[in-house]
Amino acid sequence: MKMTNPLRYPGGKYFLVDYVAKVLEVHDLTGCIFVEPYAGSAAISLEMLARDLVNKIVLLERDPLIYSFWKAVVESPDELCREIDRLDISLETWHRLAPLREVQSPLEYPPLVLGVAGLFFNRTNYSGILKANPIGGLQQNSRYTIDCRFPKERVKSHIMFIAQRREQITVKWGDAVRFLKEHQTTMENQRCFAYIDPPYYEKGKSLYRYYYLDDDHRALANLLKISSFPWLASYDDHPFIIDLYLGQAHSYWMQRLYLDYTAQNRKRGSELLLSNVQIPPVAQPPQAARPQLA
Ligand SMILES: C[S@@+](CC[C@H](N)C(=O)[O-])C[C@H]1O[C@@H](n2cnc3c(N)ncnc32)[C@H](O)[C@@H]1O
Repeated sequence: MKMTNPLRYPGGKYFLVDYVAKVLEVHDLTGCIFVEPYAGSAAISLEMLARDLVNKIVLLERDPLIYSFWKAVVESPDELCREIDRLDISLETWHRLAPLREVQSPLEYPPLVLGVAGLFFNRTNYSGILKANPIGGLQQNSRYTIDCRFPKERVKSHIMFIAQRREQITVKWGDAVRFLKEHQTTMENQRCFAYIDPPYYEKGKSLYRYYYLDDDHRALANLLKISSFPWLASYDDHPFIIDLYLGQAHSYWMQRLYLDYTAQNRKRGSELLLSNVQIPPVAQPPQAARPQLA
């Protein structure tokens, strides 16, 4: 059964699910521990679990509100659903919860408190962006209102569906590079696969409250370079990133996935897939004059 997601996430990667499943299959990694150190909505991890392709997922997230949401899903899903029932989806609640956006550490409040706030802002703000304004604006003078993306029953059923697998889900808070450094040896000695989806190089700052500067992207690339556990990274297609991963002594596999959202009239672009294991070509409609990469 398809794992449905309670979050609407900017940069969510559900569209890569089949591709990642294929990578696991090709490299005989079915049943592995699947580590997603930039979890966001954890769309791929959760779907791998729902398809029984992995034994366990480890989700790490830097944003205290998103981390706390997942923590509450695995630790207290019933209470979380009761809180959702009680939540008035209104501008008043938006202002009441707003101070929680200033919280720097998830240790400052119980996961339930921050998790409800994270879910609230994710479902009531423009494009699910936690630092954005509410849908309909602060004056609510649009035909879209703050509650139009918060179907409570559906969100609760997604939470309860995920919670059935809570024994197989570990949720951690922190910085991905530090986490990978600390767990590098363990991950190399166990059957682990890391799906790395850092904040976008170009748009990260506008989409997430925590994003990377050049040195952070470089630190991640340098760490991945010396890591021998299998990993797959997805990035926006930018010369800086291509140079980081394909320049100098790096020898990664790379594929380019063309995103073409013109049907929805939204955006056009491409996503880079990088890995230290051989990754299959991306299935997509043939188009002339695409640059050939590794
Ligand atoms: C591109 S999004 C991940 C989206 C996710 N793959 C999905 O499908 O929903 C990047 C995520 O990394 C998180 N993040 C930013 N800086 C981080 C850091 N230093 N360590 C861990 N996570 C971080 C952001 O909050 C954001 O949720």
